[in-house]
Amino acid sequence: MANSYRVMWVLFLLVQFLCNRAADGSHILANIKEHLESVPATVIDNKYRTGYHFQPRNMWMNDPNGPMYYKGFYHLFYQYNPNHAFWEAPIWAHSVSKDMINWEALEPAISMSKPFDLSGCWSGSTTILPGNRPVILYTGIDTRGYQVQNVAYPKNLSDPYLREWVKPDYNPLITPPEDINVTKFRDPTTAWLGPDRRWRLVIGGLRKHRGMAVLYKSKDFIRWIRAKHPLHSAPDTGMWECPDFYPVSTEGKLGVDTSDYRNGLKHVLKISLDRDRWDYYTIGSYNYTAEKFVPDGMMVDNRTGLRYDYGNYYASKTFFDVATKRRILMGWSNESDSKIDDIVKGWAGILTVPRAIWLDANGRQLVQWPIKELEKLRGALFSVQNKKLQSGGLVEISGISAAQADIEVDFELSNLAKAETFDPLWTDPQKLCEENDSDVKGGVGPFGLLTLASDKREEQTAVFFRIFKATHKYVVLMCHDPSRSSLRPGLYKPTYGGFVDIEIQKNGKISLRSLIDHSVVESFGGEGRTCMTSRIYPTLAVGDSSHLFVFNNGAEDVKILKLDAWEMRKPLMNGE
Ligand code: FRU
Repeated sequence: MANSYRVMWVLFLLVQFLCNRAADGSHILANIKEHLESVPATVIDNKYRTGYHFQPRNMWMNDPNGPMYYKGFYHLFYQYNPNHAFWEAPIWAHSVSKDMINWEALEPAISMSKPFDLSGCWSGSTTILPGNRPVILYTGIDTRGYQVQNVAYPKNLSDPYLREWVKPDYNPLITPPEDINVTKFRDPTTAWLGPDRRWRLVIGGLRKHRGMAVLYKSKDFIRWIRAKHPLHSAPDTGMWECPDFYPVSTEGKLGVDTSDYRNGLKHVLKISLDRDRWDYYTIGSYNYTAEKFVPDGMMVDNRTGLRYDYGNYYASKTFFDVATKRRILMGWSNESDSKIDDIVKGWAGILTVPRAIWLDANGRQLVQWPIKELEKLRGALFSVQNKKLQSGGLVEISGISAAQADIEVDFELSNLAKAETFDPLWTDPQKLCEENDSDVKGGVGPFGLLTLASDKREEQTAVFFRIFKATHKYVVLMCHDPSRSSLRPGLYKPTYGGFVDIEIQKNGKISLRSLIDHSVVESFGGEGRTCMTSRIYPTLAVGDSSHLFVFNNGAEDVKILKLDAWEMRKPLMNGE
């Protein structure tokens, strides 16, 4: 009752706002906030809060910043607005964890306090200096609105929580160079040491329409000199936000330190393209003497390139976990409901689960998999093996809480003869998924999961594959179709799609893992070769009323070789 009263009140204020366009938006938002604060916290509508995805107790979060491991703790900082559930001049909030699953919130690490960051403490990274001394590099918005790069050091290195951070007076370290837009110069990477013992770092920038990774070098971490050329740049790509640059091993799944310059490593450059709001990456070679990164073959860092995640995912960051020798990736998944919804919820923004990331054995792409620590949360299990799913077949996965679950399934296709013909002009997988939703019958597929489904499936979010036959190979398409995810009118419910680079004809097997968590579905196709994340706001498929099915709408039968679906427990999450 209190909730619907709350919603009605917000709607009333919104109508007032729309009727009086002269009214100042911030005033109405302040009114909403004042009203929300008068409602006891216990009635805040929590049905969309995630159970095991990282999120602050309340208000707005965006980018993960400077994840790192220090003296037994994983540290995570993130862009946070402590006052509202929408973006405003952010600070660096700070959480620590022993396992990257259970999180404890600490005091913010960096807030606006000096002329070089009075208008905001934007994204950045951490670097561990020799002698195990962590340092934060971040973008400050100065009193002129310029984007400058600053440094902060821990006050007390013997405190494993690193609660207090000090900003030296010699900040800012780096101010925007003349040829770069002063408001498009931000998000410093983790710094790395070259064979010449000089530090390097990259800052995202824009010159005219050319996006670039601007390179700086330093002997002492205080005086930074711009290199002659950017590490890499590309015409007509717009601003490159949150660049990330790191080496990867060409063998196995272990990560390598950002400063590792052994021969034979490949490098990855990730950029968050502000124009598209997606995270693209290229794999290539890094030459320390020429100070250049050259992507392999046909790899491009634009909207036709490779992406970490083909869904609602942005501003990600990796770090090398020295404790377990993995490279770990975390990304931001924004809400896809409205700003008013976020204000009513009192929170906005989550992180996808930490994923280990490594180079595929074929060298063509990266592979990602949820860190194994996540499996500690697995509870009640539902299992099926060797079950045939005939054309039109539907199997319910019952007995577990389907709104907070982890599902791993291996499918097997014994015959690909019915695969539909692939047109080489179909280069946009998202469009292909939009045109062929889970109800559109195919030859081989669509088959997969119906997640966050209501009892009668008025609501459902389909996660599925379709296999096509091209001239010399088979093409595997993976889709997230939330077009029927909610009966609520007016919600933004984009379909997502990506190709899965596997040779399905070899053994006819393909795997799917989906992490379902109330308002998020995060999926890994082909053992982590293609990932996608959607934000979902069902009205019926909520909590215990949420259902989960396996389906096959293709003409060809599909076998469920093995399916394990676990209910997931809730970890400690920032003092919730
Ligand atoms: C990416 C971004 C960064 C910036 C930060 C501000 O989402 O726009 O470029 O530093 O968010 O919160």
